[in-house]
Amino acid sequence: MSDIPFNAPELAGRELEYVAGSMASGHTSSGGPFSKRAGALLQEATGAEEVLLTTSCTSALELSAMLLDLGPEDTVIVPSFTFTSSALAFARQGARILFCDIEPRTLGIDPDHLAELLDDTVRAVVVVHYAGVSCDMDGVRRALADRPDVVVVEDAAHGLYGGYRGEPLGGLGRFASLSFHETKNFVCGEGGALLLNDRADVDRARVLYDKGTDRQAFFLGQVDKYSWRDTGSSFGLSDTLAAYLLGQLEEAESIQARRRAVWEGYAEALAGPAERLGLRLPVVPEGCAPAYHLFYVLLPDAELRPGVMATMREQGVATTFHYVTLHDSLGGRRFAARPTECPVSSDISTRLVRLPFFNTLSASDVERVAETLVRAVQAAG
Ligand SMILES: Cc1ncc(COP(=O)(O)O)c(C=O)c1O
Repeated sequence: MSDIPFNAPELAGRELEYVAGSMASGHTSSGGPFSKRAGALLQEATGAEEVLLTTSCTSALELSAMLLDLGPEDTVIVPSFTFTSSALAFARQGARILFCDIEPRTLGIDPDHLAELLDDTVRAVVVVHYAGVSCDMDGVRRALADRPDVVVVEDAAHGLYGGYRGEPLGGLGRFASLSFHETKNFVCGEGGALLLNDRADVDRARVLYDKGTDRQAFFLGQVDKYSWRDTGSSFGLSDTLAAYLLGQLEEAESIQARRRAVWEGYAEALAGPAERLGLRLPVVPEGCAPAYHLFYVLLPDAELRPGVMATMREQGVATTFHYVTLHDSLGGRRFAARPTECPVSSDISTRLVRLPFFNTLSASDVERVAETLVRAVQAAG
């Protein structure tokens, strides 16, 4: 029996043909024809006013942080249970971070803790749709009802093609970032996008995106030469990588259907054992349409995790844990505005195990992973 890897990116459609086409065309830098086509598909999926393809989700978050013109008196609220980039992008623009706990159902930001943290220094809130399931956006909106000045930044690295009460993930914040890193649903090696959901941000974002110049306006025929205007950096994704991405995005329906089958296969196979063994499976609240990014289980006890993962590895099944909490990390403490308590994040972070999850994972392998997990939990308990 061969081993089951944790992740296995696939060529789903015309990626190689498009990459060759890009290289042959001579336009391999950003903003070429493949970027336009990939951007149009993302715009269609999310309803964004503008899509800027970036070198990563991290750089898309950095661009959103630059657009906010943050200073040392400003704070940004970020969940403790997320990837470093969700906080780092704002910290390196000079803001201080207020780490917020997550709520145990969706593992997204906890609106009650968010409401407690809100003070006059807060300029933005970063929300994450963990595993592709929307966080409690109604709760977030309620918490921010009296603070229309606070900008919602969606870190939608897991969320593309997911939805919340009929709205697409990536369309819920003023800014949203996507990731096309090799571990995501749609990949191009390293890549991302900044979605702008407010028309008012588009012109300045184009300048910051292109080394602080109005070169995008020049290409659009709006100015007759371009020059340095503002802060910025070199955020653009190579058109060759956009070609790879386009090949993937064109197969969105098939990719998402196959990932949904993997997700539902795990949920079905583990429902019974979960109850018996005290495992918790992902919860999809009413009104949430998952993006099927990853599947996790929460073990009843953190102490079981090393043994469960080791047994599964011995049985040829690769698993991983996920985020290490930010609020009590070295960097988190350095960039925090003040210490905050995030007990749910700390608890979840130590009990979570991610199962193999990729487009080509067969139904029989899903079953094998589920059986291996059940045996490993029984052996550890
Ligand atoms: C929630 C979240 N945000 C941002 C990132 C960073 O994405 P990238 O590697 O595209 O910069 C990740 C990476 O996995 C992530 O999980």
